[in-house]
Formats: sequence, structure tokens, C-alpha cells
Amino acid sequence: MIPFSIKVLFFRFFQFLLKWSTKLLNFRTPELFSGPGSSLKLCEHIAAQGVQSLLIVTDAMLVKIGLLQPMQDRLKQLGVNFVVYDGVLPNPTIEQIETGLAMLRKEGCTAILAIGGGSSIDAAKVIAARAKNPHKIVHMAGLMRVIFKPMPLYAVPTTAGTGSEVTIAAVVSDPSTTRKFAIMDPKLVPIGAALDGALMTGLPPAITAATGMDALTHAVEAYISRNHTPATDREALEATRLIMQNLPTAVKDGQNIEARQNMALASFKAGVAFTTAGVGYVHAIAHNFGAYYHVPHGLANAIILPRVLDFSKPDCTPRLARLAEVSGLKKGNESEEQLADAFIAKVRALNAEFGIPTQVDKLRAQDIPEIADKALSEAHWFYAVPRYMDKPECESFIRGMLPQAA
Ligand SMILES: NC(=O)c1ccc[n+]([C@@H]2O[C@H](COP(=O)([O-])OP(=O)(O)OC[C@H]3O[C@@H](n4cnc5c(N)ncnc54)[C@H](O)[C@@H]3O)[C@@H](O)[C@H]2O)c1
Ligand SMILES: [Fe+2]
Repeated sequence: MIPFSIKVLFFRFFQFLLKWSTKLLNFRTPELFSGPGSSLKLCEHIAAQGVQSLLIVTDAMLVKIGLLQPMQDRLKQLGVNFVVYDGVLPNPTIEQIETGLAMLRKEGCTAILAIGGGSSIDAAKVIAARAKNPHKIVHMAGLMRVIFKPMPLYAVPTTAGTGSEVTIAAVVSDPSTTRKFAIMDPKLVPIGAALDGALMTGLPPAITAATGMDALTHAVEAYISRNHTPATDREALEATRLIMQNLPTAVKDGQNIEARQNMALASFKAGVAFTTAGVGYVHAIAHNFGAYYHVPHGLANAIILPRVLDFSKPDCTPRLARLAEVSGLKKGNESEEQLADAFIAKVRALNAEFGIPTQVDKLRAQDIPEIADKALSEAHWFYAVPRYMDKPECESFIRGMLPQAA
């Protein structure tokens, strides 16, 4: 049996290789349209690219509340034919993606426009990849498994959280194996995107809060990652500053366009940061809470984030202190230790303000060993976390979130 301390050396070496490969790949970002009304500009851009037949991938709720109508009207005016696939649900499954793919083929679409939260954008990314690749979705799981360039994909996020419009990732649920896995490939980055805060004014406070905490988690996990770079640091710090300044307003006053637009920008920036620097234990565990208990992604992250920061603090105190500074928490001559504590306390205070619980209601003790296994195998190979935990530590960490542990 290899001691954990030796395994850690392997993980570190693998992540060192990852860091250099991401430097060499130099991920592209989508052609970006930003500001209230920019989703219509993106429609004009799509028409100007000569797209004749578009598959719109979205969820039924957004169709119901009429969010797509202005974009559909503009596409019609511009002579772009489209069909709408609205079968995506939160935490999209392989089956939902295959159904969308079947519609794309039946209708002969040549490009895809995702309109929605991370679930719709991720589903659209995988439909785009499947449209040009013969292999099954499960065989795309992991790093760089998409062989051929996907179908052209455009994205309009309607939540400010996942940053999926700029990331290399798509997260897919496989209910048959209780697994939620990530497909990570630079080919998945959409070629165009619009950050249109006006589409987010109807997002209910609880979803605004949870998705905003997802964006904060991306920024923080990227900033404390050992695979950070000067560029990811800039984006992560700016995202953190924007979130701290705008998320409470966006939750309280959903109609505040300025707060919505700033949150859309923050989510994008956090996406830019983590697509290169990676995330960490918060995401590795949250993916399993999503797969086992359908806990919304942002909510799971929000619950786990302060706990992971407590655990990681001994190995990233100066970085947490810098996050505190950009969050406006530095008042005088506090030590780095004090600032790091203030940042973690601020995350807890935001959760409390948003009514986010500290435990996971549906978590069952008997699932914990399996969840810990899955979370560690995701985190240890893919994420350059500042401080490692072994299996017993991880199990005890997760046990702290059992409802009766409150
Ligand atoms: N690809 C990535 O890089 C990445 C990163 C983080 C998370 N994810 C994945 O993204 C998914 C979560 O996405 P999400 O948090 O954006 O939520 P979501 O897409 O699942 O949407 C959540 C709910 O919000 C509703 N909604 C969305 N926009 C709305 C609006 N403007 N007005 C009213 N209601 C609206 C939806 O109908 C849905 O019911 C998860 O599967 C997660 O694993 C992906
Ligand atoms: Fe996330």
C-alpha cells in the first residue's frame, strides 16, 4: 500500500503537467457581447455568420416565462430558421442530451444557441460535440476526449454562476451510475456569447444566491489553486470583488440591472480563472451531492465552501488574506491570519444572509464512504488543491454536513 504522502507527490506532478499543458494550449474565449440587450447583438452576429438553421437548447421554464421571445423575434427578422429543444432539466442527463441531438439531426441544424443556466449551456456543449463525434458521451468524460471540432456553438447565460459560456467544461449526470462527470476540452468553449444582465432580472432570490455562490466558489478555488497564474489571479480577484459588491443587491433587488450585469461579468471572469487554474474539493464533493441527492450545484458549493476554506487555510493563508482585501475587509493593520479568518467569516455571513443552510438535509451516513472515494478521485487527479485530505479525513469532513451533525 503506497503511503498517502507519496501519492500526493504523484498528484502534484500530474498537476504540474496539467499546468504546463494549459499554458501551451492557451484557451480561447468566445467572441463576447456584453450589456443589457447584448443577446440581440449575438443574434445579429449569428445571422452575419451565415447560419441558416439553428437549434436553440434551453429549459422549459425559460420558454414559459417568455425569456426567449425577443431573441426568437430577432432571429426571425434576420431570416435565421430555428427549432427549440427545451428538454433540459437542472443537472442534465445523458438521455436529455441524446434527445436534443436527435432533434438536431432530424431538423438538419448546422449551429446551436444555448440559452439558459449552466445546465442548458452544458447540455448544448455536449450536443455540439456529439454532433461531430461518433463516440458515446461517457467516453468523453475526463480531459481532452473530444476528438473532432464540435458544431458551432453560441451561448447566452441566464444565471450568473457557472461561467459555462467561457469554460472548457460540461458537467453531465448519469443516473444509471449515480455519477456526475465533467467533460473537459478546450474545443467545448462556445465561439460566441452574450452577457445580458437584463435576462436575469426574473431569477428568483434563492437561485440568484446559489448561482452567485457558485461563481464565488470558482473564483476562490481558482485563486487558492496551486495552478494559478498571474492572469487567473487577476480574473479571480476581480470576480471576487464584483461578487462581494453586487451579489447581496442582486438577491435583494432582482430588478437592479447594474448588479445583474456586474454579476454576469463576475461569473464570466470566474469562469476564465477556473478553466485554467481548476477548482478544488468544494466542487469535487458538490458534484456528488448533485448526483446522489439532486442538491442544486450552487447551493451545494455554498454549504461546502467555508468548510473547505477552514481545512485549506494552513496552506493558503496569504491568498485568503488577499481575497479579504479585495472584499473590502481590511480595516487597519490586521495580520494575514486575521484577514484569512475574516474572509471565511464573510462567506459564512453571506450564506446566513441568503438563508443557505450549513448542513445537507438529504445526506445519508451510509453513502459517505462512496462519496468520499468519488470526490477524492476527481479532486486528486484534476485539481491542484492547496492542502490534501486523505480518505478518513474526507469522510469525517463530509460527516460534518450530516443533518444530525448540526
Ligand atoms: N460547465 C461548467 O463550467 C460548469 C461550472 C459549474 C457548474 N456547472 C453545471 O451547471 C449546472 C447548474 O447550472 P445553473 O446553476 O446555472 O442552474 P440551472 O441551469 O440548472 O438552472 C437552475 C434553475 O434556474 C432557472 N432559471 C435559469 N435562468 C433563469 C432566469 N433568467 N429567470 C428565471 N429562472 C431561471 C432554470 O429554469 C432552472 O430551474 C450544474 O449541472 C453544474 O454542475 C457547469
Ligand atoms: Fe461550479
